[in-house]
Amino acid sequence: MNKKFYITTPIYYVNDKPHLGHTYTTIAADVLARYHRMIGDQTFFLTGTDEHGAKIEETAKKAKVKPQQFVDEIAAKYQFAWDELNISNDNFIRTTNPKHIKAVQQALEFMYKKGDIYKGKYEGLYCKGCEQYKNEKDLVNGKCPEHKIKPEKMSEECYMFKLSKYAKDLEKKIQKDELKIRPIERKNEILSLYKEGLKDISFSRKKVAWGVPLPWDKAHTSYVWADAFLNYLTGIGWSGPPSDSPLPFGLAQGGRKGGELNTPSPCEGEGWGEVCPADVHLMSKDILRVHATIWPAMLLSLELSLPKQLFVHGFFLIDGQKMSKSIGNVIAPEELVKKYGVDGTRYLLVSATTFGHDGDVGWSKFDEKYNADLANGLGNLVARVLTMIEKLQINKGTLIKSDDLKLKDEIKEYNKLFNDISIDSALFKIWEVISKCDKYISDNKPWELIGEDNKKAGEILYNCLESIRIITWMLWPFIPETSEKIWQSLGLDPSKEMEKDFDKATKWGELNSGVQVKKCNLLFPRIT
Ligand code: MSP
Repeated sequence: MNKKFYITTPIYYVNDKPHLGHTYTTIAADVLARYHRMIGDQTFFLTGTDEHGAKIEETAKKAKVKPQQFVDEIAAKYQFAWDELNISNDNFIRTTNPKHIKAVQQALEFMYKKGDIYKGKYEGLYCKGCEQYKNEKDLVNGKCPEHKIKPEKMSEECYMFKLSKYAKDLEKKIQKDELKIRPIERKNEILSLYKEGLKDISFSRKKVAWGVPLPWDKAHTSYVWADAFLNYLTGIGWSGPPSDSPLPFGLAQGGRKGGELNTPSPCEGEGWGEVCPADVHLMSKDILRVHATIWPAMLLSLELSLPKQLFVHGFFLIDGQKMSKSIGNVIAPEELVKKYGVDGTRYLLVSATTFGHDGDVGWSKFDEKYNADLANGLGNLVARVLTMIEKLQINKGTLIKSDDLKLKDEIKEYNKLFNDISIDSALFKIWEVISKCDKYISDNKPWELIGEDNKKAGEILYNCLESIRIITWMLWPFIPETSEKIWQSLGLDPSKEMEKDFDKATKWGELNSGVQVKKCNLLFPRIT
């Protein structure tokens, strides 16, 4: 039985179009989803947009557009960007989807009837930028360090969620890694937050009209995070808790572009209480606290299983500065694609920083890396080897099976790195193989042997080409189009390749020595 693998990105706010930060998380999630599909896991990859709340209401108002029209336009920009980047999400969930809204109302009502949501009053600070409640000690010079704005003072009658009720239980689960938080320093940071104790939080707003109305008191709308978190359930087909008896799971929005789900929901056929939890919720540090407190507490209240892991990646700075509209250094995904192509962009973002740690990027670094690793490293290796094999064949030589370069250990390490979600290290592992291959070529000089000693040249070039074939497999989660182009050069059909079992396909010697290679167009043209 193959394992299940369910991965999510945060659902992004639609107050603005996507930028490099959102693109990074989404590509990283795509790499993980593709890897798990490649090794045969039953994989579901969910992304989408978070479309309610005060921030979006205000932005739409400023743009003099009705909120629904505003969110439709920006959500379409996200979908367009992810399509362009070859993101293989199985569903794109939008929180303005009527099925999602209905499920949110049912979930909140369930929690209300249980007594976990009660009427109270919230007095405190609220940052609209984060859509989060703040303590004085979270602020720097009285401002939210993230958004550089003074949080507003709120004093409002509202419905509160009994977060405190679940704190002890959650703390234990986090300690024991039943709810795993990685990197480890993030787990420690959350545990110290739990040590300070968790207070109940406001779960509704009276003054925000652009939200999900509470079914038992329509003067209130749901706190935007309560609505947003439930996407992780509705996005895989959950239609809300049962009223009396278990409900069958109706499919939510469905489809990569909002059509039908093209991958079976991992919940299909399962009953209430067994909704499949995410294996990995991917995000950055800005939203870890809420994911490590409110979200699992909601799940406990709803009597559902917790996610297995929250994985927190770093924040990108642009040439040492925070990305911001006012500085004017915001990079949009289409700018990257225009310059480096889809796979160039995917490569540059994943390799930019250690996954889980902050990174500093910028155009000149991207240019340098693109030329060194893609145009020279990978592109050059493939072009050189294919040219030499053509020359060998013109000189009446053939490839001859040989095994000087076996790559078993590298593949083993690659799998281990993916298991630890060290995706940048898994990528570097591939470049180690590329360097190993380059060195093998310069040590053995096959070009001098063609026509002189075709047998030896045929053996050396077989080793090179078989390494390249294995490299294409390892590359596929990261730069799938490039892998497919290389397969075509080897006369292999990409869709047939993808049906193969990864372990078997990457076994040394699978390449037929009678293969007729076809040179492909330059994989990565140099940037000058
Ligand atoms: N809508 C909420 C999430 C709800 S999930 C139930 C939200 N949206 S957001 O649009 O602000 O997205 C935040 C996420 O975008 C971060 O956690 C991270 O994944 C990504 N990034 C945004 N800026 C980033 C950088 N500068 N660098 C890296 N990732 C960043 O929060």
